[in-house]
Amino acid sequence: MSDVLYVNGRFTTTDERVLGVEDRGFQFGDAVYEVFKFLGKRPIFLAEHHRRMESGLRTIGIPSPWDEARFAAVVGELLERTAFDDGIVYVQVSRGEARRAHFYPDDMTPTVIAYSRSFAFPDAAAKERGIAVVTTPDLRWRQCQVKSVNLLPNAMAKKKAQRAGATEAIFVGDGVVREGASSSFFGVRGGRAVTHPLDDHILPGVVRDHVLRLARAANIGVDERPLREDELHEIDEAFITSTTMGVMPVVAIDGGAVGNGVRGAITTTLQRMLDEAEARRDSADRG
Ligand code: PDD
Repeated sequence: MSDVLYVNGRFTTTDERVLGVEDRGFQFGDAVYEVFKFLGKRPIFLAEHHRRMESGLRTIGIPSPWDEARFAAVVGELLERTAFDDGIVYVQVSRGEARRAHFYPDDMTPTVIAYSRSFAFPDAAAKERGIAVVTTPDLRWRQCQVKSVNLLPNAMAKKKAQRAGATEAIFVGDGVVREGASSSFFGVRGGRAVTHPLDDHILPGVVRDHVLRLARAANIGVDERPLREDELHEIDEAFITSTTMGVMPVVAIDGGAVGNGVRGAITTTLQRMLDEAEARRDSADRG
C-alpha cells in the first residue's frame, strides 16, 4: 500500500515521483527534516518537532513554509488520509530547485514534503531486552544541532554497528560521548542520569528533553554534562532515546556488558514514564 504524501501544498501518494533532479536537498544536502510519531492518528510532541524544524531552517537561512497552526493542520489532514492509526511522519524542507551551482539564488521557493509511514515500534520484549551499541569517531560537521539531511556519517556509523552485530553507533569526539547516530545517549552513574549538554555537537532530541523533564519529576538526578569515554566502563546503566525507540536500554557497549548486562532500574522507570506520557499525548506546552 502506498503512503500518503504531501508535497508543496497538495496530497498524493509516495508512488508519484515528485522531486526535480536539481532540488538542492538532493544535490547539496541543503535541507532539514523531522521524524515524529503518531498513535491513534494523534501526533506526539508535534509542537516540539515544529519548533526544532523552525530553528534549523533559521540557522541555514531557508524561509519557514509553515507556522505551528498551519503545520498542525497539514499534519492533521495527512493523518486523516492515512489508512493506519500508528506510525511515523517524515517531513523535509529543502531550499528548493535551481540550476546546479554552489551559489543559490536569494528568492528560492522551498520544497516541502511530508509522508506517513507505518512503523514497528519496539514491543515489550524488545524494550526489556535492550540493544548493543558500538562507539565510533564523530566525523560529522560542527552544526549537529541542525537536523540536516547530511546523514552520510550517520549512515556509515550505523552500518558499522550493524556489521558488529549491534543496533546503534555512539559518536565519540574529543574523548567525550556525544550521541547516537540516530538517538540521544544517556549513562547512569551513581544514581544520576548523565547526558551531553545542548550545544552544536548534538541534536536537541525531543525525547531527550522530555525524559529529562520526567527524570526531574521523579526526583532522579540529571547531569547535562560531557560524559567522558573512559567513564563508559564505570556507568551502571545506559540507554538511548529517540522518536522511534523511545527509551531503549543499552546493555552492551563495544562488546562489554553495561552494569549487569540487563535493563537497569532507572532506565525502566523512565521508559515506563515516557510510554505513559506518549499514551496521554503530552506536550511540553501542555505540561
Ligand atoms: N533521529 N540524535 C540524532 C543524530 C538523531 O538523528 C535523532 C533522531 C535523535 C533523537 O531525536 P528525537 O528524540 O527528537 O527523535 C538524536 C530520527 C528518529 C531519525 O533520523 O530517524
